[in-house]
Amino acid sequence: MSLVTQTPQWQALQRHWDEIKEARMQDLFAADPGRAQAMQLTVAGLYLDYAKNLVTRETLGLLFELAEAVDLQGWIRRMFAGDRINHTEHRAVLHVALRNRSNRPIRVEGEDVMPLINGVLTRMEQFVGRVRSGDWTGQTGRRITDVVNIGIGGSNLGPKMVCAALAPYQREDLRVHFVSNVDGTHLVETLRRLDPETTLFIVASKTFTTQETMTNAASARDWLLAALKEPAAVARHFVAVSTNAEQVTAFGIDTANMFGFWDWVGGRYSLWSAIGLPIAIAIGFERFVELLEGAHSMDEHFRTAELPDNMPAILALIGMWYANFAQARTHAVLPYDESLRFLPAYLQQGDMESNGKRVTHEGLAVDYTTGPVVWGEPGTDGQHAFYQLIHQGTQLIPADFIGAIHSHNELGDHHLKLMANFFAQTEALMRGRTFDEALAEMLAAGLPEERARLLAHHRTFPGNRPTNSILMERLTPRTLGVLIALYEHRIFTQGVLWGINSFDQWGVELGKQLANVILEELQRGRIKAAHDASTRALLEHFMRYRDA
Ligand code: F6P
Repeated sequence: MSLVTQTPQWQALQRHWDEIKEARMQDLFAADPGRAQAMQLTVAGLYLDYAKNLVTRETLGLLFELAEAVDLQGWIRRMFAGDRINHTEHRAVLHVALRNRSNRPIRVEGEDVMPLINGVLTRMEQFVGRVRSGDWTGQTGRRITDVVNIGIGGSNLGPKMVCAALAPYQREDLRVHFVSNVDGTHLVETLRRLDPETTLFIVASKTFTTQETMTNAASARDWLLAALKEPAAVARHFVAVSTNAEQVTAFGIDTANMFGFWDWVGGRYSLWSAIGLPIAIAIGFERFVELLEGAHSMDEHFRTAELPDNMPAILALIGMWYANFAQARTHAVLPYDESLRFLPAYLQQGDMESNGKRVTHEGLAVDYTTGPVVWGEPGTDGQHAFYQLIHQGTQLIPADFIGAIHSHNELGDHHLKLMANFFAQTEALMRGRTFDEALAEMLAAGLPEERARLLAHHRTFPGNRPTNSILMERLTPRTLGVLIALYEHRIFTQGVLWGINSFDQWGVELGKQLANVILEELQRGRIKAAHDASTRALLEHFMRYRDA
């Protein structure tokens, strides 16, 4: 039992970092004319340029050796084989089975899970067909016009992100909404414009016990019954997506209207399961299958490609290189596509809930950085907000730029302007501007030398800021599936490199437990538990003004 930092491969990387940490990317291009060509890769229609990174071919070779030392290929094999690699919860990790379009058997404890998956997909297809055709009606016989997904975390972020990304594939007369926050404002403001007679709720919760979701679902049911009066209306207006049939029944939803999934689907990896029901309703079942197919092609690539050609592994290794050797603490995801506006938030859960861990599989405390803070906004909005810090701040912030060659909404030269900004930013981040260049520019503009010298310090950009560029031909269900699976496997690979379990999330429990204690105190108006002085004062302040 030892930490990855003790391996000779890690130590070789440390020595290598000490040698190249002052290198300039532009010099690396000059020294290696084949660099741009060597550091690009196309997989399932996704083009990746990773040449603008602080790596050389030697760095990549050393990184691949580390991946071999931690047996990345073995871990990949075990995941795809249905082994219980989520050992703290004693579960397999099989989101890849959900989109296994080859249908090759995948077994958990000897049982092939593909028939189970295909069975739910068939039920989803039938239900989606009925809703979209108007055959499934509300209690009063009117067709469904609005679908409200009630769920949080993995039962919200994935479907919400995908539905926004694939808006061009949706119909005007069937709208999908997402309610996640227990803040009543979220539900009230969403329902304000909806008609109970034509609204269908999907209560999406793996556990069917999540406080936020169950509270919103109960209030949604009250809203419906206040209008439609008859309890039987619940069966026409509520369906559930869950692994917990007992709780679904207790809520009042007929299990005939429940779409199941399994404990080997992690919440943040679940959009491919019945959790994707709102996606399938929004874009149609055939398109949903295209999303699965896209992800499957990335799965096949990840499972079979050698490390030097393996896109998720390359991105993971380069990300780890910055986190552990360049001490980068965050990772920016910058989609140059308005439709991907929820991708950073989606990847925040995917990455931070997976790799925000501090002990190894064996329970040893790590002595190295694990998952970074993941964040981002769509370009070009981000350029006018936080890019200043990426360009001239003191932190190194590796960034992924993501864009499409064709827009779904070609409008004049909007798309060319958008993409010109994408390319210009990656170039500027790498190239920077030297003091002499800044000075010359200002002298040429006619500034007096003293003023030009002062300003040149402020107008100098260090450059050498790393970026990956990811381009797809067009944002389609298929290319989106490829893209999401790319990031999932990047996260998986980093978890393997760090020796941590990326598939549990015990860190979310403590706050939930304390919230239940405090909720009871707020409801009774009396503080019972032993709180720290700050929390006690906050509760007293809240209660005093609430009562007043
Ligand atoms: O609190 C975190 C979490 O457990 C996530 O992992 C999960 O995606 C989310 O809550 C929602 O859980 P559920 O689908 O069981 O309601």
